[in-house]
Amino acid sequence: MASLPPGETRSTGADRIDGKTQTALYKLIRPLLFSLDPERTHNLTLSALRQAYRVPGAGAFVRSVYARRTPPLPVCVMGLQLHNPLGLAAGLDKDASCVSPLTDFGFGFLELGTVTPRAQIGNPKKRLFRLPKHEAIINRMGFNSIGLDAFLANLARTRRACPLGINIGKNRDTPVPRALDDYLLGLRAVYPLADYVAVNISSPNTPGLRALQDQDTLAVLLAALKSEQQVLTRTHARYVPLAIKIAPDLADQEIGAIARLLLEYDIDAVIATNTTVSRPQLEGAPLAVESGGLSGRPLGALATHVIRELHRRLAEKIPIIGVGGIGNADDAWEKILAGADLLQIYTALIYQGPLVVRSIISGIRARLSALGVETFAQARAAHAHRSSPNEHNGVTR
Ligand SMILES: Cc1cc2nc3c(=O)[nH]c(=O)nc-3n(C[C@H](O)[C@H](O)[C@H](O)COP(=O)(O)O)c2cc1C
Repeated sequence: MASLPPGETRSTGADRIDGKTQTALYKLIRPLLFSLDPERTHNLTLSALRQAYRVPGAGAFVRSVYARRTPPLPVCVMGLQLHNPLGLAAGLDKDASCVSPLTDFGFGFLELGTVTPRAQIGNPKKRLFRLPKHEAIINRMGFNSIGLDAFLANLARTRRACPLGINIGKNRDTPVPRALDDYLLGLRAVYPLADYVAVNISSPNTPGLRALQDQDTLAVLLAALKSEQQVLTRTHARYVPLAIKIAPDLADQEIGAIARLLLEYDIDAVIATNTTVSRPQLEGAPLAVESGGLSGRPLGALATHVIRELHRRLAEKIPIIGVGGIGNADDAWEKILAGADLLQIYTALIYQGPLVVRSIISGIRARLSALGVETFAQARAAHAHRSSPNEHNGVTR
């Protein structure tokens, strides 16, 4: 069978499977997946996808069910041309071992990692907990990583059909004052294969990591990463954008300080947010006592707040990648109106399956066209105009 160019697919039986059937199918499979230990399910699912992709035509089948039916919504952010603005958040494919199947789910981009310089096993198990009633997850994985060398070997073997961000972190046993060494190692190693590099200073599960968000420490980190980016741009004759991923557990004043530094050091994007150490909206959930980062629905409002605060200060000068609690098009739209230029999901993919990608993109397209605009920035402007008509009539003030 002659091979097809990436992204193209032959018509398969999947063309006859409609969205409702797919949702019903995932609802049928979900109890089986959820009957196992969460981390085991995660590993089994990724491994099953890898195995399935060895069968000729498997990729074409998945593409025809998901990617090919995801309507286009092209955007250009950080200089990257994306089919659509919805990406996979970091942490699901930490080892870059499942890139093709995840791309075929219809995402506009994937963020791989977090990868640490040296391989490490992460925190003791059990370290991943599902809270289905709350559509949430608590994790304290602690950067289980195969390390840079193995990660890059995986990536080198991979078919690339959408832009790939690579999220870098530090090893647990690297003292926090030496954290910069790990980030520079990571940046240099992944630079040639990354479409953007995400600097993770906000995971709650590596002791001391979040202290890197403190103003003085962050200034040193950003200065060094930015100057290394300039060196690497010359060496590789290619500019790879740098994005900083921050926590949802910051006071407004801290968000303000971070925004000033992002502008001062000309950082290319900010990812808001990582998981929260707080426990909002978890009444009646015994697992709420587990330590670690909370993601999914209960994180949504906190993440939106951080995005809004960032947007107020960055004033469209630096793109914001909004992530945290997005489970449908309404959630996505809320993040867009708060200031997000791109979006990412993780937990919703676990609870709803891959169809959630298409459903979110279709919903965003419908909302853009209802407003009669094309870009997210235009949507924000139109929305602001509609919500405060009095100001524009000169009635208030
Ligand atoms: C099990 C799990 C592992 C994660 N690992 C990482 C990670 O390695 N690096 C990172 O930057 N974020 C990691 N995250 C955070 C996600 O990228 C995302 O910021 C967060 O889950 C909020 O999005 P969501 O509510 O759509 O899940 C992880 C999240 C989960 C649930």
